[in-house]
Amino acid sequence: MSADLAKQNAARAALDYVKDGMIVGLGTGSTSAHLVRFLGERVRDGLKIRGVPTSEATRNLAEQVGVPLLEISQVTALDVDIDGADEIDPGFRLIKGGGGALLREKIVAAASRQMVVIADETKWVKTLGEFPLPVEVTRFGFMLTLERVREALRATGCAGDEVSLRTSGKSNEPVITDGGNYILDAHARKIADPDALGDALKRVAGVVEHGLFIGLAQTVILGRADGAEIKTL
Ligand code: 5RP
Repeated sequence: MSADLAKQNAARAALDYVKDGMIVGLGTGSTSAHLVRFLGERVRDGLKIRGVPTSEATRNLAEQVGVPLLEISQVTALDVDIDGADEIDPGFRLIKGGGGALLREKIVAAASRQMVVIADETKWVKTLGEFPLPVEVTRFGFMLTLERVREALRATGCAGDEVSLRTSGKSNEPVITDGGNYILDAHARKIADPDALGDALKRVAGVVEHGLFIGLAQTVILGRADGAEIKTL
């Protein structure tokens, strides 16, 4: 409950970064869902923005609460992207993709003039890797890709090298992303060199995108039960 309050406080503080006329990237996950609901209230009060959702789940929520939307194909750049994270390190490097939306999230973040990360304070870590790194892969040949991802973890000095296919808790079927791909969760435990791992993963055939977001965020809003702390690089 207090974690949810912290998420709400982070999302509320991010409203200051949204101004009339902006095109806003709408993140995915429970913290971003709070943001979308708050934006819906502001839109009802007269705020004029258009959102670009980073997942079908966020699209559905934004439509429900009345945030006007644009398709990604209708924009060449966004003013601000506001999204959650699974881990954030002091260099504002992120692990994202716990909700499986990392591909669209990264495309939207990379097209935005500014990325604001909203998270409860437990997401702030000294070293990335305790949270398993999501890697989106093609379904074709995914077991081969899984082995190459393991090799990338080993080659870049990660503490762990287990990699698992993400399945849904209920049916135990592989989770399929909005882009029709699978997600591998790479249990690196400690990522010694995030840049090197990101580069190594990008070179693996079958990897569509990975959840390391490096050089994208300029602002991090860490929510607590009693407020929010704003950090800038
Ligand atoms: C989805 C994400 C989310 O932003 C991340 O998993 C954080 O989620 P939450 O706000 O529910 O803690 O990357 O792909």
